[in-house]
Amino acid sequence: MPKPILSYTYDKNDTTLLELVQRHVGAVETTADTISFMMNNKATLNEEIVAQLNALSSTHKILSHGVGLSIGSYSGYSEAYLALMDELYQEVPLYWHSEHLGYTTVDGENINVMLPVNRNDECLAMICKRVEQIQKRYPIPFLLENIAHLLPDYNCIYSEAEFLNAIVRNTGCGLILDVYNIACDVHNFGFNMDDFLAKLNLDAVKEIHLANGSIYKDKMMDIHSRAVSEDVLQKTKEIIPSLKNLEFVTYELMPEAIPSMGYVAIEQELIRIKNTLEL
Ligand SMILES: [Fe+2]
Repeated sequence: MPKPILSYTYDKNDTTLLELVQRHVGAVETTADTISFMMNNKATLNEEIVAQLNALSSTHKILSHGVGLSIGSYSGYSEAYLALMDELYQEVPLYWHSEHLGYTTVDGENINVMLPVNRNDECLAMICKRVEQIQKRYPIPFLLENIAHLLPDYNCIYSEAEFLNAIVRNTGCGLILDVYNIACDVHNFGFNMDDFLAKLNLDAVKEIHLANGSIYKDKMMDIHSRAVSEDVLQKTKEIIPSLKNLEFVTYELMPEAIPSMGYVAIEQELIRIKNTLEL
């Protein structure tokens, strides 16, 4: 099994940071929504970041990871996000693209939070149909990511693992396993991580996400603002040998956290992850 490649989120026009991180990673993950801005009432990608990603693509893999697709919205997924994805797909050679299994809009209104879908048959059919549409639109692999729950779960027919497995079985899409998101669910709702991992189709996991956030009113929040906790890193180390198709481990840090964390700490964190996980 080839060693997984370390990857880092790159969503801010910051060439100093890019030069620093590219020495430690083999891939960068960018978010079309985050590197875009509004022009003439239409979202468009930041040209400078696109040029930087293009230049980097000769030596590094470029992954796309969206947040605004809202694949789980009953009223339909976001065409505005797909327009951005169209632009990114045309402009930058992408290795693959991914999104979260959740929704951020209801009846077209942004709810400013990402919520998980109700895991029933109706929703399964809806998600699978949309995954297939996306796979036809972009002939590169598409992955879905498990998200953290902010609210107690629905009374679902399928467990988290069963639902992800069914989507993979029906569509052939891959999975991103966000270990920090699972850690949030363990902390906030007593989610059973070992049971989830025992039931999940681990062969479908092609990427791992690592992050850390903060505790707010006893709840662990899915904010990508800090160095990865030792618990999450050690759990990831334990899981990796069972992921035979794992290609990337991405350290997620939101652009707003870069000044407070600082370049030196970001570089140290990449080295720490790489050494601990033997990437
Ligand atoms: Fe993630």
